Amino acid sequence: MTPAERAVKIFTERFGAVPASVWVAPGRVNLIGEHTDYNDGYVLPFALPQVTAAAALPADEEWTVCSEGHDGAVSFGVQELKPGGVTDWAAYVAGVAWALRDCGSLASPSTVPPARIAIASDVPVGAGLSSSAAIECAVMAALCELSGASIPDQARVRLAQRAENEFVGAPTGIMDQSASTLSRAGHALFLDCRTLDVEHIPFDVATVGLAVLIINTNAPHRHVDGEYADRRAVCEAAARTLGVRALRDVSVAGLPAALSRLDEVTGRRVRHVVTENQRVLDTVDLLRAGEIGAIGPLMTASHESMRDDFEITVPEVDTAVSAALAAGAYGARMTGGGFGGCVLALVDASRADAVSSSVAAAFTTAGFTAPESFVVTPSDGVRRG
Ligand code: GLA
Repeated sequence: MTPAERAVKIFTERFGAVPASVWVAPGRVNLIGEHTDYNDGYVLPFALPQVTAAAALPADEEWTVCSEGHDGAVSFGVQELKPGGVTDWAAYVAGVAWALRDCGSLASPSTVPPARIAIASDVPVGAGLSSSAAIECAVMAALCELSGASIPDQARVRLAQRAENEFVGAPTGIMDQSASTLSRAGHALFLDCRTLDVEHIPFDVATVGLAVLIINTNAPHRHVDGEYADRRAVCEAAARTLGVRALRDVSVAGLPAALSRLDEVTGRRVRHVVTENQRVLDTVDLLRAGEIGAIGPLMTASHESMRDDFEITVPEVDTAVSAALAAGAYGARMTGGGFGGCVLALVDASRADAVSSSVAAAFTTAGFTAPESFVVTPSDGVRRG
């Protein structure tokens, strides 16, 4: 059964009614452009085939949310719709309801009714594939439909980000909710995180005999929240020191002058962001020219920059990247916030299984938990389930 079918089934079993609104939103993988979004920079993610489904129906007084994989249901009323009022996984749902009811002129609180909501998902959790954005964007679409509010896509993205930042309390950028909402099948999403301008860049790897292999390292996320917030704070402080609005405003040519004004560690963090922005632009240029295979070295350079300058990788992801490259991948890099999660590798489609096996063998040798690998194709953003 698809996640949408499962969400409807769970809904019907729990609430004894048929949902009025069913939407699915995908997880994402970021092709390149890591930790650039909150620096007003560039990112190039695409939506995964794996989605989260939300099935919803208006209710009289309070919200009741259930999800496959979690026993029982979570209920909350209007008085709990404030940051800290709902915790754990249901916070992603409550946060969206809160953001929608608190969005100024886009919709009034009275038009966002309480609802019964059931969730089902195929997006791996805790793997750096944006399972949280998937649930937020699916719930956003379902609640928008129930409320009848016509809120433009870009505004929905901002509201979903606000749910994550202010309600859940994770200081993330705009990439994940953008990818889950705005992506198009067969394309990567080139997003300018300052202007929110979007360009859909053709990325149909299968037509040129290539494949994107995702390797979930199953490495536990270590210190991910604190380290993410630390990197963000260091970048913002560096921008203040350099007198720019954001690190996006430092060019590769201006890097030596910038580095001379920063301490060694801050300098390496800044160098990652500045060079990563350029790698996104270079990747987009190659893809526009139809040279998909040629982006491999940029992916690998991105990984090295995350490993050596931004220092957000862990041994499992470094091992996966090295093993994939040794097995013939054109490029490989960690994707997402870091400290574990997934690696993506660009490989000949005919070599995907061989690369997976080589990575698994390297993990066995290193004594790591076995990884899981799967091939993904760029898919559509949020849609009706
Ligand atoms: C997480 C965040 C994103 C982005 C990435 C790193 O996925 O949610 O906003 O900052 O990390 O690129």
